[in-house]
Amino acid sequence: MNNINIKTFKKTLGKFTTGVTVVCVKKNEKIYGKTVNSFNSLSLKPPLVLFSLGNYSSSINTYLKSKYLTINILSKKQKKISNHFSKKNPLSKNISFFEGDNNTCLINDCVANLECKLIDKIKKGDHIIFICEVINVHNNDKLKPLSYYNSKYY
Ligand SMILES: Cc1cc2nc3c(=O)[nH]c(=O)nc-3n(C[C@H](O)[C@H](O)[C@H](O)COP(=O)(O)O)c2cc1C
Repeated sequence: MNNINIKTFKKTLGKFTTGVTVVCVKKNEKIYGKTVNSFNSLSLKPPLVLFSLGNYSSSINTYLKSKYLTINILSKKQKKISNHFSKKNPLSKNISFFEGDNNTCLINDCVANLECKLIDKIKKGDHIIFICEVINVHNNDKLKPLSYYNSKYY
């Protein structure tokens, strides 16, 4: 066994294969998006999901104050979108969105989209866990998901 430090911790977490999502919020008609792979299911009844964001993020306050948000599960063809939304303050004008029921924006051509209501936030360490109730879902059964492992896309 190796002692834990940031380098070995990050390397070990990278051994866990995840999907890739972009979490979007809309504020004053501006769309914010962030690439997130800490997404997971939490509860079936009620339908809850979670993800975490670093409290150092440039747009953390916008996410903390949002009432509704969308979680967009990327397809294999959307690597560019993942890279785009992992930049600081990415623009959303070249991204194709469709509208949700609660003045939300969902990314087109994803394997799945979830429209959620933010119901709780828990601060732990240098991250904040966002707990969301899922209101609407959209699935695209023909597309394959984008995966992330060892800092690489598959
Ligand atoms: C595949 C991938 C997954 C990521 N997952 C998360 C995550 O779960 N939580 C998080 O806070 N940042 C995550 N990031 C980093 C953010 O996308 C973004 O780079 C970071 O928040 C810095 O930008 P900001 O300061 O504008 O927020 C991920 C990046 C990549 C490429």
